[in-house]
Amino acid sequence: MSVQIIVGAQWGDEGKGKIVDHLSEHVDIVARYQGGANAGHTVVIPTKGPNGITTREYVLHLIPSGIFHSHVTCVIGNGVVIDPVALMSEIGQLQAAGVDLHGRLLVSHNAHLIMPYHKLLDSIREQGENKIGTTGRGIGPAYIDKYTRTGIRVVDLLNRDVLCKKLKQNIEEKNELLKNIYRSRTLDVDEIINEYQEFDKKIDQYVTDTSAYLHNALQKKKKVLAEGAQGAFLDVDHGTYPFVTSSSPTSGGACTGLGIPPTSITSVTGVVKAYSTRVGNGPFPTEQLNEVGERLRSTGGEYGATTGRPRRCGWLDLVSLAYSVRVNGIERIAITKLDVLDDFDEINVCTGYTLNGKRITGFPTDVQTLEAIDLEYRVFKGWKTKTSDVRSYGKLPARARTYIEAIGKILRTKIWMVSVGARRDQTLTVR
Ligand code: GDP
Ligand code: IMO
Ligand code: MG
Repeated sequence: MSVQIIVGAQWGDEGKGKIVDHLSEHVDIVARYQGGANAGHTVVIPTKGPNGITTREYVLHLIPSGIFHSHVTCVIGNGVVIDPVALMSEIGQLQAAGVDLHGRLLVSHNAHLIMPYHKLLDSIREQGENKIGTTGRGIGPAYIDKYTRTGIRVVDLLNRDVLCKKLKQNIEEKNELLKNIYRSRTLDVDEIINEYQEFDKKIDQYVTDTSAYLHNALQKKKKVLAEGAQGAFLDVDHGTYPFVTSSSPTSGGACTGLGIPPTSITSVTGVVKAYSTRVGNGPFPTEQLNEVGERLRSTGGEYGATTGRPRRCGWLDLVSLAYSVRVNGIERIAITKLDVLDDFDEINVCTGYTLNGKRITGFPTDVQTLEAIDLEYRVFKGWKTKTSDVRSYGKLPARARTYIEAIGKILRTKIWMVSVGARRDQTLTVR
């Protein structure tokens, strides 16, 4: 049994897509275990053009980031919430780009579906005072239905009678809510039934019992990579609640989200951006609302891959990361976007939190404490050298290695990979 889990160790957008694509060369299956089309995983792949090899950027929302390796089978697990409109559009885009999905994409029959009313409810709730800054993809409302046991699953798409009955019940109930509580427009039952019935023909070929598929694959010693979306601090249990997403991006989510046993997990890798970013609202202790933050954003191209929103930017935070390492069981890390720091004279890293003058241990996940803490920083001298052309770890500037190795030492984790650019060849393995 061999499952490696790749998790985002911060607030998402760490570069998971790039790292998963890189690692996919040596695995048989890549499986997404939670979240939905709120994710935006960027993969840059070499493409043959009239002027030789160029690159093309793809942003994946639901389809696992192993899809560009033709030997890899991609699984969308039961823990994912699937918007059929988004899935079909993504499938169409990949097919148009010449990616053969035949027999390579499997969708869990138990995954829940995102319906138009989920998206509408998501946008209405975001107009209120307590807005989270969601991606507006209907994620929270879809998981609400899953856990109140009124959700509609992929398997229901394949049975018209069941689908119609469940849709009718759901839409009538949601319309009451929309009309009487939110004073919003309501939804037309027949319109939605007609639209969603169409998906059965399109989705049928991909649907299977993915837990059983993974079990059989593991019996045959196939290598599986479980791909997390979002990141640890967006985890509904372990993140900065309520400013989180509605699923479990931490490594524990991989077992429930794929239907695989904990005993099949062989490693957990955390993807860590060399600094920090966050999209949406909520506490962000090391945020730099100044020239530093703006520079990180412009150099790092820090704009949401799903919504295009500017990402909030700040220094690396080793206090929160130590917590992420603990909750996820991260044994090794892949540091991404090192190149973004190339031009900084000095690079700060948060190494301690104090509350009312006293150092605190651990990472407080309640918003009030996170807003009241003071931070201790360690300052590193910048390397002031371009790293994006470096192709081996030993060739990185000494000060860059000092920065990386200090992170590994403080977090007590192995540094496995360092990424110095978005392309596949800009990935250094640390031996
Ligand atoms: P994900 O959600 O974790 O997959 O990350 P995103 O794709 O949302 O955001 C990461 C962004 O950084 C994408 O635009 C990637 O192409 C880019 N990227 C990934 N690794 C590197 C790197 O090492 N250096 C630079 N400059 N960009 C990178
Ligand atoms: P990837 O997989 C960064 C954030 C949203 C919002 C909160 C809740 O690309 O790393 P939701 O739509 O999930 O209900 O929004 O979570 N968020 C992300 N931030 N990267 C993501 O995905 C995110 N997915 C959701 O901005 O703050
Ligand atoms: Mg992203």
